[in-house]
Amino acid sequence: MSFVITTPLYYVNDKPHLGSVYTTIICDTISRYKRLVGENVIFITGVDEHGLKIQRTATEKGIEPKTHCDEIAAIFNINWKNWSISFDKFIRTSSKDHEIVVKEFFERVKDSDDIYMGVQKGWYCVGCEEFKDNPENSPTYKCPIHQKNLEWKNEENLFFRLSKYQQEIEKLVNTPSFIEPIERKNEIKNFVSRGLKDFSISRTNVSWGIPVPGYENHTFYVWFDALLGYVSALNSNETDKSLERLNNLGWPADIHLIGKDILRFHAVYWPAMLISAGMRVPQKIIGHGFLTREGQKMGKSLGNVLDPDLLLTKYGNDPVRWYLIKDISLGNDGDFQDKRFVDIINNDLANTIGNLLNRSTSMSRKWFNNKVPAIDKEFNQKSLASLANIATENFINHFEAYKIDLAADEILKLAINTNLYLNDKQPWKLIKEESNITVVKDIIYCVLESTRIIGLLLLPILPELSKKIDSQLGLIYKDEIPWKKQLKWGILQQGSTLPKPIPIINKLEYE
Ligand code: MSP
Repeated sequence: MSFVITTPLYYVNDKPHLGSVYTTIICDTISRYKRLVGENVIFITGVDEHGLKIQRTATEKGIEPKTHCDEIAAIFNINWKNWSISFDKFIRTSSKDHEIVVKEFFERVKDSDDIYMGVQKGWYCVGCEEFKDNPENSPTYKCPIHQKNLEWKNEENLFFRLSKYQQEIEKLVNTPSFIEPIERKNEIKNFVSRGLKDFSISRTNVSWGIPVPGYENHTFYVWFDALLGYVSALNSNETDKSLERLNNLGWPADIHLIGKDILRFHAVYWPAMLISAGMRVPQKIIGHGFLTREGQKMGKSLGNVLDPDLLLTKYGNDPVRWYLIKDISLGNDGDFQDKRFVDIINNDLANTIGNLLNRSTSMSRKWFNNKVPAIDKEFNQKSLASLANIATENFINHFEAYKIDLAADEILKLAINTNLYLNDKQPWKLIKEESNITVVKDIIYCVLESTRIIGLLLLPILPELSKKIDSQLGLIYKDEIPWKKQLKWGILQQGSTLPKPIPIINKLEYE
């Protein structure tokens, strides 16, 4: 059995923005966690290359769409490597393999008698690649997301009989935990309860798309094509591309993680398409919120777009990950504020976690000959052990429920409590009396062990920092031993050597 998780397939009209980095980091964290608990993860990302929006972007640049897509797809691929994203599949919807899947899928849907020719009239947003509901019949009506004028369309298109699946979709969207969070679920329930309308799945004015077999001049509507990228990603390395084989390759997806603006496509249109083609529907759709900057929507016209490349170069991977994961509750909107970012990183990572590692290892090195102290097991104080065990249990429960901000918070709380424990015990005073040596050894051992567990819990969230903590404690983590097993209290080896200290996280300056 595989655990399949997907990011949206990003439009290649531009290079990645903070929104795409956000979704991809969350998927990466969940993938890393699932691998640590023993799942066979297939993490899919990729790019959505067809459609009017991309065709126009290429025309504006004066180049062929294919040349434009090759360029931007390569940027996305490199970008995810720079962010150390652990994706397994990178799908391009302009690939031949994908086209085979789309065509077979279309034949299946046609065989279910779900395709007919009709006339599509309405106001279209090229940015969303979507017809808008009831836009007050005015040519000056703007898309609320893109703030651009809508375009009037009136053409002959092929339609998909979405209305036929009203009951099945109603049942599906009411299934507990199919759509999360609850606000998103309610939005979709309302939308479905108003009655589903058939939607057009082909275009006659878009040449940059997959041709519809048997219908000259028609290319597939970009969403019909793109959603299938999740499926074609799974069999991209297989010689037999048939959809029948997909169940062995991991379909259906366990999670589609997407932004709230594209929920309808994933929670309504996509499942109906799959049912029509005789395929299984995804297990779960998580719709995350939107990121704003200093309280404002990010946009080129506002000139406040935050370039993720600059963030990465300036601050590094872990600080950005920590901020996006810990400060934004998955599902809610989030705001990126420069000052808050610097404060959070300095407080949580430098002053709390970094400082804990610093103090505990330096005391141990100084008093116990550069080693972890050897302790008397009988004497071992239990208070920190039980705090660490509770934090671990809570962390796992939160992660399993995809409440990753709360999981991150458990790590921070354990680090705060471990610092408090040290402050309370004051081993630097006790060590002055020879007779206190047993108790000091015990305190230091416990604090180092708690720090080891903090580092280990950080592994899916901040893989780089986690590895640095582990190396400062003498490389205790073993890939071949189950991660959960290594979270047990007492694994840090007594008397083992501590390496030379190196700073693991730098404080940031607010400019
Ligand atoms: N190509 C489609 C997805 C097809 S999936 C089969 C698409 N692409 S997109 O590049 O425009 O958007 C990708 C994702 O970025 C969406 O989930 C969208 O919600 C998200 N975001 C766009 N702006 C965002 C923010 N400001 N904040 C957070 N996420 C945002 O839609």
